[in-house]
Amino acid sequence: MDTVLILDFGSQYTKLIAKAVREQGVYAEIVPPEISPEEIQRRAPKGLILSGGPASVYAPDAPHIDKRIYELKIPILGICYGMQLMAHDLGGQVLRGERREYGPSTLQIIQRDTLLEGLSEHEEVWMSHGDEIRALPTDFVCLAKTANIAHAAMKSRDGLLYGIQFHPEVAHTPKGTAILKNFLFKVCRIHERWHPADHVQEIIERLKEELAGARHVLIGVSGGVDSSTAAVLVHRAIGDRLIPVFIDTGLLRLGEAERTTTVFERLGLHLRVVDARARFFSQLRGVTDPEEKRQRIGAEFIRVFEEEAQRLAREVGGIDVLVQGTIYSDVIESAGARGADKIKSHHNVGGLPERLRFKIVEPLRNFFKDEVRQIGLRLGIPEEIVCEQPFPGPGLAVRIVGEVTPERVNVLQRVDAIVREEIYRAGLARAIWQYFAVLLPVRSVAVLGDGRAYGHVVAVRAVDSRDGMTADWFPIPYDILERISSRITNEIEGVTRVVYDITSKPPATIEWE
Ligand code: XMP
Repeated sequence: MDTVLILDFGSQYTKLIAKAVREQGVYAEIVPPEISPEEIQRRAPKGLILSGGPASVYAPDAPHIDKRIYELKIPILGICYGMQLMAHDLGGQVLRGERREYGPSTLQIIQRDTLLEGLSEHEEVWMSHGDEIRALPTDFVCLAKTANIAHAAMKSRDGLLYGIQFHPEVAHTPKGTAILKNFLFKVCRIHERWHPADHVQEIIERLKEELAGARHVLIGVSGGVDSSTAAVLVHRAIGDRLIPVFIDTGLLRLGEAERTTTVFERLGLHLRVVDARARFFSQLRGVTDPEEKRQRIGAEFIRVFEEEAQRLAREVGGIDVLVQGTIYSDVIESAGARGADKIKSHHNVGGLPERLRFKIVEPLRNFFKDEVRQIGLRLGIPEEIVCEQPFPGPGLAVRIVGEVTPERVNVLQRVDAIVREEIYRAGLARAIWQYFAVLLPVRSVAVLGDGRAYGHVVAVRAVDSRDGMTADWFPIPYDILERISSRITNEIEGVTRVVYDITSKPPATIEWE
């Protein structure tokens, strides 16, 4: 398979490079900068990308690469730090920047070239750097400049090595995708296309081999896309030797346990539902601190899962493997730039593996969220799961400000169901990244018949986001807000006021707690 390797120097944008390349149908993988030339040759990539990074090439602990990599005759694109390192390693001169340049800048092309094909003479680009290149290495030519820097893009005369000072992988560089495509298809001459869903059979075959010796295999299913897709893949490989467990914490959305069970039955998987509602409510009694809520829920989840695993192991006569729905973003976020291969445990079952001594299998660890969705759809998992909005691990507990009680969860579940129903009916479910209701710990006065009453206040929250890191509040049309509000106050006894959250992230977070 035609592959591009991305050597990661620690930029916050490295993940975006990998995503952007894969979105072009080219398989890309992030690797640590310590990778050896021999290993690169063994993997025979069609191209290499040197990512950006926060360091200065002169810093004592700055990441470097083996210089023999430049001689492999594989096309290389250096981005930001990657470009500076290339210039520095090959005899150019990198100047310590007097000031950081961060933000939009105008690229001015001074020499036409394959990499910049399709760009106008002036293009907007996104910069984020401290150092800059004063002198190019010999045998390099300058392709573009900006008002601030003389060398904003460079190329080796043999056409194999490229450097750009700006970031093509961010949305603020409008022609960034065109530049990446030029690199992939014209410089690296990649023609084999990669589509995650085409690899379903291959993943299943690999799982069959990997799990051949396992007596039984356990997976914790949350009803979300990652764990559901992982469960169906493994089920296709080993059938009912897979035991999917679903823990009902009592903090789920209305009807969620039933809905998930039904969907899985249709896919041929029999979910073991563990009713742990009472245990979670008992843990949460009297707790109002958000962090303590999260910790208690996390710890109880592990206890319940562990007990259930032990019980099941006795019942079926041995469980050897735990499957986790870890995806690529989890892997690279926790691995870090220096390549330590530490894996973040799935937030819902963190801490489990060590104590239970299961072998861990993660069939989705090479895939981004969108790719998992494509695989899920190919497996026949319904859109209601595959395209569902994100839902936090601690469930509705982070949407109830103050103490979490069964009564308050019940109110919120029904309010939330109305919000979701109306958004769906309005055809906005796909347009809004996340939408839900929050129960507030205040009472507000209301006129009910001839008397006064004090009822619950709920907030409606809707946000637009790409990855949850930042978010804009979403302007739900007034008529739909009105319908949501009147339905809530009419249908849910005890709720007398509905407010609309119009804060973006930052400064607010998406969830209230
Ligand atoms: P915040 O509230 O931090 O949320 O802006 C960003 C995204 O993460 C989700 N979220 C969580 N997901 N466990 C999760 O699995 C959690 O504890 C948690 N807290 C927030 C949130 O729904 C949003 O999509």
